[in-house]
Amino acid sequence: MGNIHFKHREPIGSSTFPMPGDPVDRDLIGARLSQPANDYNQSTVYIHIPFCDQICSFCGFNKAVSSETTKERYVKALVREIEIYAKTDYVQSLDLRAVYLGGGTPNALNANQLSRILQALHDNLPLSDDVEITSEGVIQNFDTARIRALKDGGVNRISAGVQTFDKAIREAQLHMRNGKEELLEGIANLRASFDNFNLDFIYNLPGQTDEIWEEDVRLALSSGAQHLTFYPLVLLENTIFYADYVKNEKYAMPDEAREIAMYLFALEQLKHSVYSNRYSVRDWAQPGRDCRYIRMNAESNHILAFGAGAHGYLAGVTYRTIRSTIKYMEHIEQQHSLPLDAMRAATRRELMQRYAVMGLRMRDLDLDPFAERFGERFLDVFSTEVQQLIASGYLVLNGDRLHFTDKGDIWANNVRTHFEGGAAAKVGYTDTVSIGQDGKTHYSKVTRIKASGDVEANV
Ligand SMILES: C[S@@+](CC[C@H](N)C(=O)[O-])C[C@H]1O[C@@H](n2cnc3c(N)ncnc32)[C@H](O)[C@@H]1O
Ligand code: SF4
Repeated sequence: MGNIHFKHREPIGSSTFPMPGDPVDRDLIGARLSQPANDYNQSTVYIHIPFCDQICSFCGFNKAVSSETTKERYVKALVREIEIYAKTDYVQSLDLRAVYLGGGTPNALNANQLSRILQALHDNLPLSDDVEITSEGVIQNFDTARIRALKDGGVNRISAGVQTFDKAIREAQLHMRNGKEELLEGIANLRASFDNFNLDFIYNLPGQTDEIWEEDVRLALSSGAQHLTFYPLVLLENTIFYADYVKNEKYAMPDEAREIAMYLFALEQLKHSVYSNRYSVRDWAQPGRDCRYIRMNAESNHILAFGAGAHGYLAGVTYRTIRSTIKYMEHIEQQHSLPLDAMRAATRRELMQRYAVMGLRMRDLDLDPFAERFGERFLDVFSTEVQQLIASGYLVLNGDRLHFTDKGDIWANNVRTHFEGGAAAKVGYTDTVSIGQDGKTHYSKVTRIKASGDVEANV
């Protein structure tokens, strides 16, 4: 059994099922949803809003700039979809403890549309009394009317993207309009309006020098946010960046050694900051400010997902909703049935793999619930993988918990996808991120095209 040396850092590590083309079996899903959840009944809710005011160069999520008519039609379809699921015994037996409005840009919708979606959730779904409701959004759209609508609808957490404060990179490379001063003003507005918000940042952007990154991290740490997320740049097909980097060779391909250096710089700064609670592979929070949605998705794996292109898992079935916004709306308007595009009654082995891939987003996997859920020990089922990963210095076993080492932290997403073996190499997407045009390409392969040589896992 040889040691493992990952050569390319996986930017995302998410469970890969259902595969594109996995057929929808309406009888099966109908039967599963007609029964109450018979085991663990805690779940999250994900709602996808596929609209943006502008398209950022790097973004491969399912989104478009759309007309007011389309947005209005979408909100009606979304409410219908929530009502269809809510009529089932399965959904009514759930304890829904965290909701996430993601996108796209939820606050590309107006206040009235946001209110109607939130009202539909409260009217139809068994939300727990202390439910966490997060809404994503762009900083400049958190105006008074939308903030009121979100708060009245129970939203108690916000997540907004900064990426970088550097105005030149934002304008020229990212195609984002607002600069540092407007962002800082918007963050002050968030601080005054919400006591729990996250900011997203991206490292290894084109032109993001050490000085710019140091300033980004410095401003992140002094932002007053309760939670920070740091993503490495991922090149995704069907994005402006994909054309810029891969087809037009406008930029040199992202350098993985540099990506790791930038990550380590941020890590060091975060260690000595108020964000001492590094609870997932890319999320840092102030103590007690973990995002419940992220934690529950990792631990329970159940996600009740609505909206175009959303991914969910319920009643032992992983599923994906129709990705085209138009086809999604037409399906609901004409057929009044679940707008499913692909689904897979997960095998026992896939559910076990999902436990590892989703759970290890937390950097610390409790192995006890695995035995309760599957009647077998994690260390027996994945003995080869665990032994290899421990011997190679990525993981340590501490009682009934598996932890990442410092080296494992850097290669966390490689370690996670390692538990999916061949499946992860065939396809990979998370929630609503693009997949390759052939429906099979694993997104991280895109970053490997013309990569500047192998980076050995010797950190
Ligand atoms: C899909 S956006 C949704 C929220 C909102 N529209 C915004 O822009 O803040 C969520 C986050 O995903 C991250 N993201 C999107 N595409 C990415 C990429 N190609 N590489 C790294 N991070 C990415 C960005 O940090 C972004 O803020
Ligand atoms: S990053 Fe946010 S605003 Fe930019 S295109 Fe993606 S979803 Fe839209």
